[in-house]
Amino acid sequence: MAQQQQMEAKLIGKIIEEIINSNENKITFKRYMEMALYYPDLGYYTKDREKIGKKADFYTSSSVGSVFGQTISKVLAELVSYVEDQEYRIIEIGGGNGRFARDVLAELKLKEPDIYSQLTYFMIETSPYHIKLQEEYLSEHLDHVQWISQLEELGDSLKGVIFSNELVDAFPVHMVKKVNGDLKEIYVTWNHDEAVFEEVIGELSNQALSNYFIEQRIDLKEGQTSEINLNAIEWIQAVGKKLQQGYVMTIDYGHPAEELYASNRHNGTLMCYHQHLANDNPFQHVGDQDITTHVNFTALEKYGEQVGLQTILLDTQGNFLIRSGILEYLIPVQNFEERDLFQDQALKINRAIRQLITPGEMGDTFKVMLQQKGMQEKEYQFMKPAWEKYPF
Ligand SMILES: C[S@@+](CC[C@H](N)C(=O)[O-])C[C@H]1O[C@@H](n2cnc3c(N)ncnc32)[C@H](O)[C@@H]1O
Repeated sequence: MAQQQQMEAKLIGKIIEEIINSNENKITFKRYMEMALYYPDLGYYTKDREKIGKKADFYTSSSVGSVFGQTISKVLAELVSYVEDQEYRIIEIGGGNGRFARDVLAELKLKEPDIYSQLTYFMIETSPYHIKLQEEYLSEHLDHVQWISQLEELGDSLKGVIFSNELVDAFPVHMVKKVNGDLKEIYVTWNHDEAVFEEVIGELSNQALSNYFIEQRIDLKEGQTSEINLNAIEWIQAVGKKLQQGYVMTIDYGHPAEELYASNRHNGTLMCYHQHLANDNPFQHVGDQDITTHVNFTALEKYGEQVGLQTILLDTQGNFLIRSGILEYLIPVQNFEERDLFQDQALKINRAIRQLITPGEMGDTFKVMLQQKGMQEKEYQFMKPAWEKYPF
């Protein structure tokens, strides 16, 4: 605990130093968030500290149960089989502790041994702490896993499937606000008297911020605050440029632009998570809480198109998992009253399925986007209506 506080104090010192050395005694909110999450050794994601799961700060779909990775393994197997190449490649970006990769690889080994035998699963991860965990989680599949630091290492004519779950929501964002009819940016400064970080309003730091709303025909309401994730655009364009043939599957919580920037979201979507409690104050628990924002799927679609990515699916996670066969993993349960509610494996699996697909839980806030480049049209199994799979 004392060590935790020392690290937080050190990180706060680094941020203050950067504010003092800046031209106008302020840094963009984006820079603040980048430092809080990714400052070497001190940031939330870069330091040695559990983040995902029961004993940490938040759950992701991968951590809810193996059934998430198992179900998606079938989809990934189908997709890689359509890519014309001698070997199969899946590239996961921001794989966290490696649980999703482990569940996918274990299921493929069992159910799709031909694909597994020719598959290389690449991991690209910023957090040194998560890379260590990935090495442990994936110890049984080391012959099939390669860690790389960036997509560039795979050359210019990449063929394969690029996957991410809850990556884009973890990118640092600019914060903007409509003030007297003009779009302004929110910066962060340090209040010496009260020893707290504070927001200050200033001119836009980057022309791309006003272009973003013009290009997407978004107009914030007076006084409305929101976030702009320029890193998401850079990311999807870098991915699209590298990919010669294949798919990009992006799962995250978010909405199309018109919903994300609607006037009912007057204060934007930024949320922080610390020990499973959500809050909206990014200036507390500095480097010790996750900071995230909802993803603008329209931006991924629109800016992806500019580099040849065509969107073939954007659906809720619930619908997608049902069409991909998640209900086949349900376990019939008898003697309910004799079972241990918390320890019983069958109940745990059934509960995980419910949580992953139920609207109001993970089923509809999370979306699944699938983009393709250089592929022929296919009749995808996971696009078939659910009633064809589960005849009653
Ligand atoms: C919210 S966690 C999600 C982890 C995992 N996908 C899951 O579902 O449990 C986000 C992960 O993305 C990683 N990350 C963030 N930016 C990244 C980037 N530009 N490249 C690779 N990994 C990144 C973080 O270090 C973290 O491990």
